[in-house]
Amino acid sequence: MSFNRTPDGRALMGGVPLAEIIAVSGTPAYVYDVDGIARATADLVHAFKNAPRVVAYAVKANTAGTIVRAVSGAGGGADVVSGGELQVALGSGMPPERIVMSGVAKQNWEIDLGISSSIRAIQIESVEEIGRVAARARALSQCAKISIRLNPSVQIDSHAHIATGHDEAKFGVLRSDLPAALAAIAVANSGAEPTLSLVGISTHVGSMLTTPGPYLESARVVTSVARELRAKGTRLDFVDFGGGFAIDYGDGRVDPPSAFAEAALDLLEREGLSDLTLIVEPGRALVAPFGVLLAKVLQTKQSGERRWLMIDAGMNDLIRPALYAARHRIEPIEREPGESVWQVVGPVCESADDFGLHAIGDEPPSAVAIRDAGAYGFTMASEYNGRALPAEVFVSGGRIQKIAPTLGSEAWVAARLRA
Ligand code: LLP
Repeated sequence: MSFNRTPDGRALMGGVPLAEIIAVSGTPAYVYDVDGIARATADLVHAFKNAPRVVAYAVKANTAGTIVRAVSGAGGGADVVSGGELQVALGSGMPPERIVMSGVAKQNWEIDLGISSSIRAIQIESVEEIGRVAARARALSQCAKISIRLNPSVQIDSHAHIATGHDEAKFGVLRSDLPAALAAIAVANSGAEPTLSLVGISTHVGSMLTTPGPYLESARVVTSVARELRAKGTRLDFVDFGGGFAIDYGDGRVDPPSAFAEAALDLLEREGLSDLTLIVEPGRALVAPFGVLLAKVLQTKQSGERRWLMIDAGMNDLIRPALYAARHRIEPIEREPGESVWQVVGPVCESADDFGLHAIGDEPPSAVAIRDAGAYGFTMASEYNGRALPAEVFVSGGRIQKIAPTLGSEAWVAARLRA
């Protein structure tokens, strides 16, 4: 257990009391259990047994070098969606053959970096992109390895903002557009030297899949296209079924990542594609449960029947509740939660800066932990309302390994005055 408590109720992260961490980091601060992240990655890598596979961690979930290095050290690779993320992955020691690059609108320099660093594949998200990648490959006198990210036209039961695999989404190539994509690849390769090598077929249907059902539905679109291409003589290297494995934010049971791994292997076996490398792209499942956002309680407010617990972390630090109506458990750090309920809100001047109702206890605590904040927390944070980005604390081996401090208010003000 990453977040747990001593018998007398003090909250720990990776074995270190959160109260001790606050004393050195201040608040708001993200705290990550680095060993937990490495363990989750290794568990998933091993869930595929001896099958050729790449667990390509979706770096967008958490880009901290300490975390990306831990994933890499545990045998993981990376799914990146920008040149910046690609540089973090390469700089963290990810072998290029374990990196794939997605993204619907890549810049030329990002495509160039993908080609020149010899990553496993650039994932093509539109027919129009094929000519662009071919042009960059020609300019570099290299052959670019590409995969086609299919939009499988599968609806998932998830928040609209995190579903990606339906017809109206901007992501991926519709199956009906596949002939046009293949034709564009043929045109790109019609010169003296081939510029594109189609090595994979991919998909990503969206996030917070609680069971492998919809995952398999979109994976079947991938395997059927992979079989068609093979029959026509295309020498594929991999299929990529994407990420989206849910975590339990405290409101229900979800299947573990290993269940998705087993289902995926099973499908490949049945389709006669077991010799292909299987790529999966989990983001949240590898990091979310291993992070908390720490906040101090600034004051309470009672007005009529309502009462609020006002904390020093806001929607600028963790936007998920405001953006997706996501619910993160919030608990006192120095004692178990009591029954008495408070509306927990941040200081940001927006009604959406509201973390919801939480059972905290009669007395307001001095500080709280917002749980399951290791994914899409810091990476989506902003400086809105004149607030510097929060600190990040990395725990490993039962102690604080590193603190990435906040820029702080003074430096933030100076930077804005310079602008
Ligand atoms: N692969 C691709 C191509 C993706 O676009 C994503 C997520 C993933 C993998 C990883 O999905 P995951 O396993 O983490 O669910 N900010 C939202 C999630 C947006 C996900 C976008 N793409 C949130 O906080 O819930």
